[in-house]
Amino acid sequence: MSDVKNIVVIGVGLMGSGIAQISLMAGYNVTVVDIKQEFIDKGVASIEDGLKRLEAKGKLSLAENMARLNTTLDLSYAVKNADYIIEAVVEKMDVKKEIFKICDNNAPLHCIIASNTSTMSVTEMATVTNREDKCIGMHFFNPAPLMKLIEVIAGEKSSEESMEIGIEVSKSLPCLRGERYIAKVLKDRPGFIVNRLNAPGSIYFNYLLDTCFEKGIPFESLDADYGSGGPMSPLVLIDYTGIDTAYHGRNYYAETLHEDFRPGKALTKMFNEGKLGRKTGLGFYDWSKGRPKPDFSKIQKAGLVDHDVILAIRLNEGCRILEEGIASGWKVIDDANMAGMNFPGPFGEGIKNYEKYLKRLINISEEIGSEYLKPCDLFKSGNFVDMK
Ligand SMILES: NC(=O)c1ccc[n+]([C@@H]2O[C@H](COP(=O)([O-])OP(=O)(O)OC[C@H]3O[C@@H](n4cnc5c(N)ncnc54)[C@H](O)[C@@H]3O)[C@@H](O)[C@H]2O)c1
Repeated sequence: MSDVKNIVVIGVGLMGSGIAQISLMAGYNVTVVDIKQEFIDKGVASIEDGLKRLEAKGKLSLAENMARLNTTLDLSYAVKNADYIIEAVVEKMDVKKEIFKICDNNAPLHCIIASNTSTMSVTEMATVTNREDKCIGMHFFNPAPLMKLIEVIAGEKSSEESMEIGIEVSKSLPCLRGERYIAKVLKDRPGFIVNRLNAPGSIYFNYLLDTCFEKGIPFESLDADYGSGGPMSPLVLIDYTGIDTAYHGRNYYAETLHEDFRPGKALTKMFNEGKLGRKTGLGFYDWSKGRPKPDFSKIQKAGLVDHDVILAIRLNEGCRILEEGIASGWKVIDDANMAGMNFPGPFGEGIKNYEKYLKRLINISEEIGSEYLKPCDLFKSGNFVDMK
């Protein structure tokens, strides 16, 4: 058992405020740090708001929780008594490294430094410290109080003990929508488990977008093919999170995994024209009058999307995750996906009929001309079936 009592959350934005809230709810003393008082005030208001709603339901005492919250603009001072640090600042490697360095210089020797990065190498952040064994990744999903999954990531030099403490702290953080699920990520690879599993779908998606673009098929017809399985259809969701986020995300995977991830013609054009979705009022949809609610029963389908292909691509990527030793078995991958994305992973369905999916993948990789979408050796062999 670790002796973590004092947690410091660095960056109290969207993620940091949620992480601080659940750390308080778990009973820790929490210090939040940011670069401007106005950011701290906004973060604290968000924490307070979350706790107030729970107090109204009789679940906790706001005053008791807030009494354990401290705030400061001084990072060196903040970490003096820290047992566990969670960094949740902007996704920029140089900023994260600077923070890791200050933490290393000022925090007690036993203190773990965890990063909530969604994409970057924890191994690289750790290199600026003299405690590479005590640096890990701790990837929350948004919003942290509601999403069950936390991926705890081993950097190249993270010790088993640090991973155990990371997992123990993660397990202790309440989830307001069911039981917390912790996925142990054995290797520090781009996208970790869940984002990686779902990333190559974007190669197929780029291809479909470009097909629409070139043939003059309305984008909303492609959206109608996918349908609205979740709260938002895929194109509304991309608009909502930002065309720029999708564009940068694809370039990130192009640089770290394979060139085939590069954004296609349609997405690049929209990015270059500043049609970024919700934030600019125009993307695939017009957002000037609020969130678009396309009525798919009235929109003609493009007839392009093959759902078997989507599953085949995810199954193949799951096999790559196993091949690379990132997860211990396919059940972790499926469970992590459900906990992080609220929809099933590919193995439960895919294993039953994997040869069918293998054929679909071979066909689509040839049709698109994508090297990356070709089945990996583990998928071809079928041996993953026993790697539960
Ligand atoms: N937003 C998501 O859905 C999501 C999901 C998982 C992980 N993440 C990761 O979490 C991290 C934070 O993302 P976010 O969406 O909360 O961003 P955000 O912009 O909402 O918050 C970042 C906060 O960090 C502060 N900050 C910046 N530099 C700082 C410094 N040097 N010292 C202290 N504070 C500093 C900013 O002022 C801001 O308040 C990123 O690494 C991101 O990749 C985000």
